[in-house]
Amino acid sequence: MSETAKLKIGDNSYEFPLIEGSENELAIDIKTLRGVSNGVITIDPGYKNTGACKSAITFLNGEKGVLRYRGYSIEDLAEKANFLEVAYLLIFGELPTKDQLVKFHADIKDKAIVDDDVRKILDAFPKTAHPMGILSSLTSALTAFNPSSVNVDSDEEMYQAIVKIMGKLPVLVSWAMRKINGLPLNYGSNSLGYVENVMSMMFSKPNEEYTINPIVRDALNKLLILHADHEQNCSTSTVRIVGSSHAGLFASLSAGISALWGPLHGGANQAVLEMLEAIKEDGGDTKKYMAKAKDKNDPFRLMGFGHRVYKNFDPRAKIIKVAADQVLNDLGIDDPILDVAKSLEQEALNDPYFVDRKLYPNVDFYSGIIYRAMGIPVEMFTVMFALGRLPGWIAQWREMRLGKEPIGRPRQIYTGETLREFKAVQKR
Ligand code: ACO
Repeated sequence: MSETAKLKIGDNSYEFPLIEGSENELAIDIKTLRGVSNGVITIDPGYKNTGACKSAITFLNGEKGVLRYRGYSIEDLAEKANFLEVAYLLIFGELPTKDQLVKFHADIKDKAIVDDDVRKILDAFPKTAHPMGILSSLTSALTAFNPSSVNVDSDEEMYQAIVKIMGKLPVLVSWAMRKINGLPLNYGSNSLGYVENVMSMMFSKPNEEYTINPIVRDALNKLLILHADHEQNCSTSTVRIVGSSHAGLFASLSAGISALWGPLHGGANQAVLEMLEAIKEDGGDTKKYMAKAKDKNDPFRLMGFGHRVYKNFDPRAKIIKVAADQVLNDLGIDDPILDVAKSLEQEALNDPYFVDRKLYPNVDFYSGIIYRAMGIPVEMFTVMFALGRLPGWIAQWREMRLGKEPIGRPRQIYTGETLREFKAVQKR
């Protein structure tokens, strides 16, 4: 693309190159703007029109409802792949060969022990602590136990930091859940697959042998894959920007976990289930809640609806909706909140307020129903999202570090007081 973008400010004109992505997306490269224009910057709250980086990891087209990891469609991966090979694909760019996958898994298993002193930190949290707070704190604490993961200047150091956190984060996730359920902490088993081991660590009881339910395993595998990356969302951008100061991988991930916690982001999956539960308790009158969601004087929003980028069906939501039906059928669970969810969806899809604003169900709308059917407590839903998003965050952090991106440091337009004279407190 040889065209340029022209900008006129007063009597001055400037030209900027256009950058074209592999899917023909266009961007105006304004890197030189401030320098050539004597300090003019662009402003874009919420970064709705601002690209923060070039990335070869995930492609999404929100208008068409397309999501691909490294060129592979999310539908294909959710149907055919396992989570560990998707993690490898995201982080290293290609699907692993059999040998590469075996080695990757062996390296992860080798590093999966979490220092026993981390248990003492976990013990100090109250039982009522939200597990996202626990996960973020313990992920950050891991830095102290693994100082070599901070300065990762060689490929080997980077690889070691990656396999360590791929091994240790599932342990922290399961410990956070076991604390809620009052179960003794464990380490699962190195003889199991990655997802199977996550299940064993989360669900096994000290007094009975744990058998993997293949339906639950397949559903969990699918959910983790669907959550594994979503390009420059709030938590991923957080990981990249924290990592851009060359803070360590674990500290960057801890910041990403905190960003994910918010109800406008990953925290929505907990909020959706609580909303569906509240509607059911209130008699199941979905029309009443639709009216609340549309009322601009009412802070209520239909959780699990709308997305910054998707202005069409979230392709992940389509897959999860089918999976929710399958899991509930297979497990023989009749969950009335699935009916509440389905009627809310139908009403929203036919309501001009939602249609005009292109508000469709997002990834979080049905995921909580599956998590609940699996026996995962509602506070753990966003933690499960974090576990799925781990490879995406790692891939984005690695790409940022290998690309030698500069430290993230936005500008601002100052709107405060101009210079004022200080008055001593007695004179104020
Ligand atoms: N319920 C009711 N109205 C909504 C909703 C909703 N869930 N979402 C957006 N709207 C309305 C807004 O009020 C606004 O209306 P207006 O134009 O009349 O003022 C319009 O739709 C546009 O909404 P914005 O908030 O400007 O859109 P934005 O892109 O900033 O926000 C977001 C996207 C945060 C996801 C929003 O849709 C939302 O709050 N949804 C509910 C929370 C949720 O499900 N989050 C999970 C997102 S997926 C993820 O992070 C994994």
